[in-house]
Amino acid sequence: MKKTLLRAVSVILVLSLVFCTSAVSFAADEESKDSAPFRISVTVNGDAKTERGFCWYTDSQTDSLVVIDGVDAKNISYEDVFEWEGNFCHKAKVTGLEPGMEYSYTVGSESVRSLQGTFTTDDGDSSFGFIAIADVQASSAENFEKGADTLRAALAAMPGAGFAVNCGDFTNDSTNEEWDLYAEAFDELNLSYTLAPVSGNHDGLGVWHWFDNMFNLDTSESVQVLNGVNYSFDYGNAHIAVLNTNDLFSVSLAQLKWLENDMNSTDKDWKIIAMHKSPYTLGKDGKWPDALYLQQSLTAVADRCGVDLILSGHDHQYLRTKPLKANKLSDDGTTYVLLGTAGTKRYEVRKFLVNSFINTEYIAALNIQKGGYGNYWNGKDFESTREENIGGCFNTVNIDGGKLTFNSYILSDEMTDENGERIITNTDSFTLTKETGKNKATFTGDNTTSEAEYYLGIIPSFAALAGYAFGIWLPKFLWIVPRILDSVINDDTF
Ligand SMILES: [Fe+2]
Repeated sequence: MKKTLLRAVSVILVLSLVFCTSAVSFAADEESKDSAPFRISVTVNGDAKTERGFCWYTDSQTDSLVVIDGVDAKNISYEDVFEWEGNFCHKAKVTGLEPGMEYSYTVGSESVRSLQGTFTTDDGDSSFGFIAIADVQASSAENFEKGADTLRAALAAMPGAGFAVNCGDFTNDSTNEEWDLYAEAFDELNLSYTLAPVSGNHDGLGVWHWFDNMFNLDTSESVQVLNGVNYSFDYGNAHIAVLNTNDLFSVSLAQLKWLENDMNSTDKDWKIIAMHKSPYTLGKDGKWPDALYLQQSLTAVADRCGVDLILSGHDHQYLRTKPLKANKLSDDGTTYVLLGTAGTKRYEVRKFLVNSFINTEYIAALNIQKGGYGNYWNGKDFESTREENIGGCFNTVNIDGGKLTFNSYILSDEMTDENGERIITNTDSFTLTKETGKNKATFTGDNTTSEAEYYLGIIPSFAALAGYAFGIWLPKFLWIVPRILDSVINDDTF
């Protein structure tokens, strides 16, 4: 009897143990299956009228599923899920969309879905707008939130924006922790528009492939993807090329060749480039050879191809040039805009660059925010202040046939209006006009760069950069050393 009782107790204990263990393991499975998608983005990827790229992460390995209302599942293709820095990267691409349609979607796995997002395809019409921001470059939750506030204000200011260009430096150190903070601040916002991301020098700092692994872009023509991606797309009557200025410190000869072919392959009315580093800047990075090299190498291509507008970041101030060609004022030249920072890190003017690395007569507009003041170029000096101009900078570009209207804004950090809304100041505005239907495509070949071509071109690319650095940059730099020393001693800036 005792034995039977003991057996019964043992069976109950074993059964309890099995039940508890399976319950725990079921809970653990459930927990891993609950891995919600994060770092979600919808990006331009191929034809902006009919295609989009999706990228998101999960913290455990799950299946990938994108559901787009009204779109057949067979139009969506998936890449293999892979582990990246402890999380799992998912990429998908949709084709066969209808032009000019708003779509609702969710991403995730069969069991765990994201919140609903939306994007709108290009209708091909020559009337559209887009947003341009740069350099959130945050590392704290607070500063990512401020960057997100800037983008939120931009999306509110231009509700029908076709897409938003982010000219790079999404994070400061490109660590897992920072990309998580980025996701916490931006994910919900990123569900509401199409992104055209640009790689900044901080996007992959130390660990290559961060940028490539954060977004699903058309890399078929990119000269490499280690530390950024170059690609291009059409939107309305514009052709937009996105450069990777981390390519051999700025742009390799292979990328310049790609850019020239790319710009010559379009007959769109407007030719626009988005990139991270700036050829024309009065910020702290304007004194280095890569910026000056871009003044020679990139601008030469822009001149030859008739590029209308070049958007850039990197130097955390707003600077617009008058139209320039061959580094001189020219009515049919290219307008260069350093977009200002959407974040909180701001650079003052390096006055030692004035009339050495950039002539003041080239500057059409300048907005500097640093040390509690908002300095701007008033045509004579940098000292005038507008105190409301402290905050995140965002920009809008409207294209209507042969007219392009650009506006730059600052979302004040602290100043609010009578309704408690943060004040938005329109700090610069300009228009470009042109006759439409004039551009002809003169390049029709294959514009991919083979690996062999790229690697064989590394030495000539470095030689071009080094030749320029020692032949042009160094004498200029040595010439301004006394002014640099003066700046370091008196203004504490370098
Ligand atoms: Fe940068």
